[in-house]
Amino acid sequence: MKLIAPSILSADFTRLKEEIQAVEAAGADWIHADVMDGHFVPNITFGPMVVEAVRKATALPIDVHLMITAPERYIADFARAGASTICVHVESCVHLNRTVQLIRDAGARPGVVLNPATPVEAIRWVLEYLDFVLVMSVNPGFGGQAFIPNSIARIAALRRMISEKGLNTLIEVDGGVSTQTIAEISAAGADVFVAGSAIFKSSNYRQTIEALRRMAGG
Ligand code: DX5
Ligand code: ZN
Repeated sequence: MKLIAPSILSADFTRLKEEIQAVEAAGADWIHADVMDGHFVPNITFGPMVVEAVRKATALPIDVHLMITAPERYIADFARAGASTICVHVESCVHLNRTVQLIRDAGARPGVVLNPATPVEAIRWVLEYLDFVLVMSVNPGFGGQAFIPNSIARIAALRRMISEKGLNTLIEVDGGVSTQTIAEISAAGADVFVAGSAIFKSSNYRQTIEALRRMAGG
């Protein structure tokens, strides 16, 4: 099962509720929310207050991607705000195993994120505790960047590691996902596809989401 997760980073924030309801009506599976602190990444976006507002606008799972330093400080706040999944960057966590446990204890599904230059090997011994791994296919911080080609090999390597361990961890991919790139990303073994500009900058959300799903192979 392939899942499409529109990233609200590229939505029109003056009409956030309508934008979320429009992608929900257009067939989105998850709503992806990019939290940035201007420290771990160069950009600043929003915090738990906005996630709480998103929660009121949709029944879909909210996928909270924390691009912040020391994310363990805010797990409880985002869980309380209504996050369904929470993922933290391996590069931002000194005690990754503990932070993953914190997410689960807070009642959300935990994921871990890998930056484009981080070895896939970094998550080998936390994999069995995760519901999903998010592979960054751009450097985090901004929407609308070009897909980094060697992300395909990283996704394939992660898929092999998950199979070797006999797990059913989902692989999510974030950055530069479009109708041009999604087929290859899916073939490498990805399950969940974050798409910001590809969806919100398109003129027909339903057609775009349907095209992405079809090209991902279902
Ligand atoms: C980037 C964010 C992404 C971003 C993707 O730091 O994590 O979720 O919204 O944007 P697109 O799909 O435009 O590459
Ligand atoms: Zn993201």
